[in-house]
Amino acid sequence: MKKLNILLINLLLVVFLTSCNKKKLTEYNVEVPLPEVQEKAVMGIPDDVTANDGSFQLEKLTYSYDALAPNISGSTMESHYSKHYLTYTNNLNKALVGTPLENLTIEEVLEKLDTSIPEIRNNAGGYYNHTLFFKCIAPNSGGEPKNILAEELIKKFGSFDNFTTAFKDEATKQFGSSWVWLVVDKSGNLQITSTQNQDNPLMRNALIQGTPILALDLWEHAYYLDYQYKRKNYVDAFFNVINWKKVGENYEEAVKK
Ligand code: FE2
Repeated sequence: MKKLNILLINLLLVVFLTSCNKKKLTEYNVEVPLPEVQEKAVMGIPDDVTANDGSFQLEKLTYSYDALAPNISGSTMESHYSKHYLTYTNNLNKALVGTPLENLTIEEVLEKLDTSIPEIRNNAGGYYNHTLFFKCIAPNSGGEPKNILAEELIKKFGSFDNFTTAFKDEATKQFGSSWVWLVVDKSGNLQITSTQNQDNPLMRNALIQGTPILALDLWEHAYYLDYQYKRKNYVDAFFNVINWKKVGENYEEAVKK
């Protein structure tokens, strides 16, 4: 009988403690009200991005970050312009201080730089390549070029479609971070070529040297947010935003040189 009493007392104790714990949990289980309006990330403005003092400044974007969507999203454009391009520009300015290249144009820097100095090679390339890239794309663009460039592309490749296929093929065969270019070579001919990292056809080590008139950025930061591993889809989308008017102007300037 004594054992039974002890068992009953223990049972009552367990029931009492469980009840207390439940009360305690209820008291501290405060509900957090959900926001009535979903917060959205605020997108910046290209004009607010400024490089540090130095030889070079960012090329101004003539359109908003989200103007190329859905081909290239606002998020990709914002990080590409305000982070990557800005960093190359600041690092280039820093690397050039006190060197014989400090007061030259970017084209002269690229032609003269010592490729064994990565700080200058990578950042001079990064600055020039992105400056051209952002000018080669625009909203309400794509389609086909007109005037002299259209004629020259047909002369060189047989048709605009053939050019498109050749350019996309060059992009498809790239491995890793690289750029694909349409250039006017030293003989005044149009050529498609590519370079690794931030090199470009103005550098002395380029396989095909020439003046770039169209630049395609194949670094992951240019497309991964939008297309992940599907780089081909990004290359297709790039053709929807090529600013052929600007590329045509680049061509006419390049052949005068
Ligand atoms: Fe880039």
